[in-house]
Amino acid sequence: MGKNKVVVGCQWGDEGKGKIVDLLAADADIIARFQGGANAGHTIVVGDRKYVLHLIPSGIIHPGKLCVVGNGVVLDPFGFKEELELLDREGIDYRGRLFVSPATNMVLPYHKLIDAVDEQARGTGCLGTTQRGIGPAYIDKVARHGIRVVDLFAPDRLKKRLEYQAVIKAKYLDGSTDKRADLKRTYEELIKLADMFKPMVVDVSYQLHTAHRQGKTILFEGAQGTLLDVDLGTYPFATSSNTTTGGVLTGLGVGPRMIDEVVGVVKAYTTRVGTGPFPTELIDDTGDHLRKLGDEFGATTGRPRRCGWLDLVALRHTFRINGVDSMAVTKLDVLDESEEIKVCTHYELKGQKLTQVPLDLAELNHVKPVYESLAGWKSDTTGITKFADLPPKAREYLNFIANDLDVSICVVSTGAKREETILV
Ligand code: GDP
Ligand code: IMO
Ligand code: MG
Repeated sequence: MGKNKVVVGCQWGDEGKGKIVDLLAADADIIARFQGGANAGHTIVVGDRKYVLHLIPSGIIHPGKLCVVGNGVVLDPFGFKEELELLDREGIDYRGRLFVSPATNMVLPYHKLIDAVDEQARGTGCLGTTQRGIGPAYIDKVARHGIRVVDLFAPDRLKKRLEYQAVIKAKYLDGSTDKRADLKRTYEELIKLADMFKPMVVDVSYQLHTAHRQGKTILFEGAQGTLLDVDLGTYPFATSSNTTTGGVLTGLGVGPRMIDEVVGVVKAYTTRVGTGPFPTELIDDTGDHLRKLGDEFGATTGRPRRCGWLDLVALRHTFRINGVDSMAVTKLDVLDESEEIKVCTHYELKGQKLTQVPLDLAELNHVKPVYESLAGWKSDTTGITKFADLPPKAREYLNFIANDLDVSICVVSTGAKREETILV
């Protein structure tokens, strides 16, 4: 019986979770998503094929592995269908091994419309959402008028629930000529999807518990990053779910003892898409260089990602919140050409030294990052598979991070491909 691991992003998302999940999935029987929705874009590169998954767990690329979408996810049924079609085109057979909780709330076209309208209304204070309808769908869930996967199988109830949306969302829908506001059309299109979902819908909590008792190994796949967590991130510049280890329990209906190890994924520098504080951001040639070498453009929206140095203050915060046991450091190769590599060890605010993230955003917006400067290794690490083969300065960089955070490194990623990996 292997260890049940959680993979969580420890920065602002896009740390390379897809690659790490794909890697660890080799030793798991089931891969389960517990939160988020199609705002996620998880990239997996195998051979000459590149897959970007938004809703379907990254384990699906491995033949025979079971994949589960938990109740904590908000699922766009039309986007989900498109992803299934993509798998079909790629010759990846998901039938009989992909499951969805009936309690999963759905993201419907009007949620995307509302996401766009709300963002526009926020004006300069906008969040820079992915416009995938995530916030509005979670609002409906918490307000208890969401529409769930189980409702697909009760057409009368589905119709009534959609009719109620016309009442409570009149402010957005009335007079709108946007086709996303057309509830009748939404109903008709949803009904057509019921047969597709039927064989996939199972009691996910029961399924995971049963598998666990049979000695099966489960890998929990986080989406987004800890600093985007709705409770513990840089609120309000966050997403609308618990992206952290805590989200596993409520998002899948499992107990804490089903988690054996928490793997924190850390990009060797920092990126962020969307608005909000980012103390180590580099708005200069160095930032542009990282964006270019790291190909830092959103996997979901294509937006350029903001880039900056590694921030140990933020990582101390996110490692504590998740209870990180070991870390996977990704994109080390992107630093190959850097003469000097900086790491933020603490912040300064009004002459005071801060070693922890201030919880008041007004303060976080004004902290000054204080850096330790390390020498770059100036050689190509792409594709290196042994720790000992890394240039000494690259090892120093990794050891510096691990020592500060007091957490060992389990994986170093030296390229986007599956095999461009060091298992430590
Ligand atoms: P996720 O959302 O955390 O799964 O990350 P994304 O897929 O959005 O973004 C990570 C990007 O970096 C993807 O394009 C990956 O293919 C790529 N990637 C992952 N690991 C490495 C690495 O070690 N080196 C390089 N150069 N690219 C990587
Ligand atoms: P993965 O799983 C990076 C960001 C958006 C925005 C904020 C709120 O690929 O790491 P939302 O659409 O969730 O309401 O947007 O969160 N965001 C992500 N940033 N990676 C992601 O997912 C993200 N999902 C949401 O850019 O700032
Ligand atoms: Mg991503």
